[in-house]
Amino acid sequence: MDKNNLRKRILSIRNGLKPEEAEQKSKVIMNKLTSLDEYKSSKVVFIYMSFKNEVNTYELIERMLSEHKRVVIPYTDTKNTEIIPSEIKQLKDDLVLNSFGYYEPVLEKIKQVKPEELDLIITPGVVFDESLNRVGFGKGYYDRILSKKRKDTKVIAVAYEFQVIDKVPTEPHDIKMDMIITEERIIQ
Ligand SMILES: Nc1ncnc2c1ncn2[C@@H]1O[C@H](COP(=O)(O)OP(=O)(O)O)[C@@H](O)[C@H]1O
Ligand SMILES: [Mg+2]
Repeated sequence: MDKNNLRKRILSIRNGLKPEEAEQKSKVIMNKLTSLDEYKSSKVVFIYMSFKNEVNTYELIERMLSEHKRVVIPYTDTKNTEIIPSEIKQLKDDLVLNSFGYYEPVLEKIKQVKPEELDLIITPGVVFDESLNRVGFGKGYYDRILSKKRKDTKVIAVAYEFQVIDKVPTEPHDIKMDMIITEERIIQ
Protein backbone atom coordinates (compact mmCIF):
# COMPACT_ATOMS: atom_id res chain seq x y z
CA MET A 1 0.00 0.00 0.00
CA ASP A 2 1.29 3.51 -0.74
CA LYS A 3 2.11 6.03 2.00
CA ASN A 4 -1.11 7.99 1.55
CA ASN A 5 -3.42 5.03 1.88
CA LEU A 6 -1.48 3.76 4.87
CA ARG A 7 -1.78 7.18 6.53
CA LYS A 8 -5.55 7.22 6.02
CA ARG A 9 -6.03 3.70 7.28
CA ILE A 10 -3.97 4.04 10.44
CA LEU A 11 -5.23 7.56 11.23
CA SER A 12 -8.83 6.39 11.09
CA ILE A 13 -8.01 3.72 13.68
CA ARG A 14 -6.15 6.22 15.88
CA ASN A 15 -8.91 8.82 15.63
CA GLY A 16 -11.37 6.15 16.74
CA LEU A 17 -9.52 5.31 19.96
CA LYS A 18 -11.44 6.14 23.10
CA PRO A 19 -9.65 8.93 24.99
CA GLU A 20 -9.22 6.72 28.05
CA GLU A 21 -7.71 3.97 25.91
CA ALA A 22 -5.23 6.44 24.41
CA GLU A 23 -4.37 7.71 27.89
CA GLN A 24 -3.82 4.26 29.31
CA LYS A 25 -1.61 3.11 26.44
CA SER A 26 0.30 6.40 26.51
CA LYS A 27 1.15 5.84 30.16
CA VAL A 28 2.51 2.35 29.45
CA ILE A 29 4.60 3.67 26.55
CA MET A 30 6.02 6.59 28.51
CA ASN A 31 6.86 4.37 31.49
CA LYS A 32 8.94 2.21 29.16
CA LEU A 33 10.65 5.25 27.73
CA THR A 34 11.59 6.74 31.08
CA SER A 35 13.15 3.50 32.26
CA LEU A 36 15.68 3.49 29.39
CA ASP A 37 19.28 4.61 29.83
CA GLU A 38 18.89 6.66 26.66
CA TYR A 39 16.27 8.68 28.48
CA LYS A 40 18.06 8.88 31.82
CA SER A 41 21.35 10.05 30.34
CA SER A 42 19.85 12.72 28.07
CA LYS A 43 20.11 16.35 29.11
CA VAL A 44 18.50 18.05 26.11
CA VAL A 45 15.34 16.39 24.85
CA PHE A 46 13.29 17.35 21.83
CA ILE A 47 9.68 16.24 22.17
CA TYR A 48 6.53 16.88 20.15
CA MET A 49 3.39 18.41 21.63
CA SER A 50 0.70 15.77 21.29
CA PHE A 51 -2.72 16.47 19.81
CA LYS A 52 -5.85 14.48 19.06
CA ASN A 53 -5.13 10.83 19.91
CA GLU A 54 -1.36 10.90 19.49
CA VAL A 55 0.65 9.22 22.23
CA ASN A 56 0.30 11.84 24.95
CA THR A 57 3.46 13.76 25.78
CA TYR A 58 2.22 16.26 28.36
CA GLU A 59 2.93 14.26 31.49
CA LEU A 60 6.40 13.40 30.26
CA ILE A 61 7.13 17.04 29.51
CA GLU A 62 6.11 18.02 33.05
CA ARG A 63 8.28 15.24 34.44
CA MET A 64 11.30 16.29 32.36
CA LEU A 65 10.92 19.91 33.44
CA SER A 66 10.81 18.82 37.08
CA GLU A 67 13.90 16.63 36.52
CA HIS A 68 15.66 19.71 35.10
CA LYS A 69 16.19 18.30 31.67
CA ARG A 70 16.20 20.92 28.95
CA VAL A 71 12.92 20.50 27.04
CA VAL A 72 12.73 21.52 23.40
CA ILE A 73 9.49 21.53 21.40
CA PRO A 74 8.70 22.25 17.74
CA TYR A 75 7.74 25.59 16.32
CA THR A 76 6.36 24.70 12.91
CA ASP A 77 7.53 27.10 10.23
CA THR A 78 5.02 26.27 7.50
CA LYS A 79 6.55 28.76 5.07
CA ASN A 80 9.86 26.91 4.96
CA THR A 81 8.34 23.50 5.85
CA GLU A 82 10.74 23.38 8.74
CA ILE A 83 10.65 22.67 12.45
CA ILE A 84 12.38 25.28 14.58
CA PRO A 85 13.40 23.59 17.84
CA SER A 86 12.49 25.90 20.70
CA GLU A 87 13.29 25.48 24.40
CA ILE A 88 10.53 25.86 26.98
CA LYS A 89 10.80 26.32 30.74
CA GLN A 90 7.16 25.58 31.58
CA LEU A 91 3.90 24.49 29.94
CA LYS A 92 1.66 27.25 31.22
CA ASP A 93 2.41 30.44 29.32
CA ASP A 94 3.63 31.61 25.95
CA LEU A 95 2.15 28.70 23.98
CA VAL A 96 -0.58 29.00 21.35
CA LEU A 97 -2.53 26.54 19.23
CA ASN A 98 -1.16 26.51 15.69
CA SER A 99 -3.01 25.83 12.43
CA PHE A 100 -2.51 22.08 12.84
CA GLY A 101 -4.11 22.12 16.28
CA TYR A 102 -1.21 21.56 18.65
CA TYR A 103 0.50 24.02 20.96
CA GLU A 104 3.70 25.75 20.00
CA PRO A 105 5.68 28.72 21.32
CA VAL A 106 4.41 32.15 20.30
CA LEU A 107 6.75 33.52 17.65
CA GLU A 108 8.16 36.30 19.88
CA LYS A 109 9.08 33.79 22.60
CA ILE A 110 11.00 31.28 20.50
CA LYS A 111 14.27 30.24 22.14
CA GLN A 112 15.89 28.47 19.25
CA VAL A 113 18.10 25.48 19.95
CA LYS A 114 20.44 24.05 17.33
CA PRO A 115 19.58 20.49 16.21
CA GLU A 116 23.16 19.52 17.13
CA GLU A 117 22.44 20.32 20.80
CA LEU A 118 19.76 17.64 21.10
CA ASP A 119 20.65 14.41 22.93
CA LEU A 120 17.33 12.67 22.41
CA ILE A 121 14.54 13.25 19.88
CA ILE A 122 11.12 11.80 20.63
CA THR A 123 9.14 11.63 17.43
CA PRO A 124 5.48 11.19 16.64
CA GLY A 125 4.38 9.46 13.47
CA VAL A 126 1.47 7.88 11.69
CA VAL A 127 2.79 4.49 10.53
CA PHE A 128 5.99 2.60 11.34
CA ASP A 129 7.47 -0.74 10.35
CA GLU A 130 9.51 -3.51 11.92
CA SER A 131 12.66 -2.14 10.26
CA LEU A 132 12.34 1.22 12.10
CA ASN A 133 10.99 3.17 9.12
CA ARG A 134 8.58 6.02 9.73
CA VAL A 135 5.70 7.59 7.82
CA GLY A 136 4.51 10.97 9.09
CA PHE A 137 1.75 13.31 7.97
CA GLY A 138 3.39 13.71 4.58
CA LYS A 139 5.31 16.97 4.65
CA GLY A 140 8.71 15.61 5.64
CA TYR A 141 9.12 17.89 8.68
CA TYR A 142 10.81 15.21 10.77
CA ASP A 143 13.00 13.93 7.92
CA ARG A 144 14.32 17.48 7.58
CA ILE A 145 15.14 18.07 11.23
CA LEU A 146 16.55 14.56 11.72
CA SER A 147 18.94 15.13 8.84
CA LYS A 148 20.56 17.91 10.92
CA LYS A 149 21.07 16.08 14.21
CA ARG A 150 24.33 14.82 15.64
CA LYS A 151 25.22 11.28 14.74
CA ASP A 152 24.96 10.10 18.33
CA THR A 153 21.60 11.76 19.02
CA LYS A 154 19.06 9.02 19.76
CA VAL A 155 15.78 9.03 17.85
CA ILE A 156 12.96 7.28 19.65
CA ALA A 157 9.45 7.04 18.20
CA VAL A 158 6.43 6.45 20.41
CA ALA A 159 3.37 4.83 18.86
CA TYR A 160 0.51 2.44 19.51
CA GLU A 161 1.03 -1.15 18.45
CA PHE A 162 -1.55 -0.86 15.63
CA GLN A 163 0.63 1.82 14.03
CA VAL A 164 3.42 -0.71 13.40
CA ILE A 165 3.14 -2.88 10.30
CA ASP A 166 5.54 -5.29 8.52
CA LYS A 167 6.75 -2.86 5.91
CA VAL A 168 6.11 0.72 4.83
CA PRO A 169 7.28 2.27 1.55
CA THR A 170 10.45 4.34 1.93
CA GLU A 171 12.21 6.97 -0.12
CA PRO A 172 15.87 8.04 0.05
CA HIS A 173 15.08 11.12 2.19
CA ASP A 174 13.29 9.08 4.88
CA ILE A 175 15.25 8.81 8.11
CA LYS A 176 14.99 5.73 10.30
CA MET A 177 14.28 5.65 13.99
CA ASP A 178 16.75 4.13 16.47
CA MET A 179 13.90 2.68 18.47
CA ILE A 180 10.11 2.43 18.41
CA ILE A 181 8.26 2.03 21.71
CA THR A 182 4.69 0.74 21.75
CA GLU A 183 2.50 -0.40 24.65
CA GLU A 184 3.47 -3.98 23.77
CA ARG A 185 7.14 -3.93 22.82
CA ILE A 186 10.33 -2.09 22.00
CA ILE A 187 11.64 -2.41 18.45
CA GLN A 188 15.30 -1.67 17.85
N1 LIG B 1 15.69 16.46 4.10
C1 LIG B 1 14.80 16.88 3.20
N2 LIG B 1 15.06 17.98 2.46
C2 LIG B 1 14.17 18.43 1.57
N3 LIG B 1 12.97 17.86 1.34
C3 LIG B 1 12.65 16.78 2.05
C4 LIG B 1 13.53 16.24 3.03
N4 LIG B 1 12.95 15.18 3.59
C5 LIG B 1 11.74 15.06 3.00
N5 LIG B 1 11.55 16.01 2.08
C6 LIG B 1 10.36 16.18 1.22
O1 LIG B 1 9.19 16.15 2.00
C7 LIG B 1 8.14 15.54 1.27
C8 LIG B 1 7.35 14.62 2.15
O2 LIG B 1 8.15 13.54 2.61
P1 LIG B 1 7.48 12.20 3.18
O3 LIG B 1 8.61 11.31 3.59
O4 LIG B 1 6.48 11.66 2.22
O5 LIG B 1 6.67 12.76 4.43
P2 LIG B 1 6.57 12.20 5.91
O6 LIG B 1 7.96 11.79 6.33
O7 LIG B 1 6.03 13.35 6.68
O8 LIG B 1 5.64 11.03 5.86
C9 LIG B 1 8.77 14.80 0.11
O9 LIG B 1 8.35 15.39 -1.08
C10 LIG B 1 10.25 14.99 0.29
O10 LIG B 1 10.92 15.23 -0.93
MG1 LIG C 1 9.33 10.65 5.40
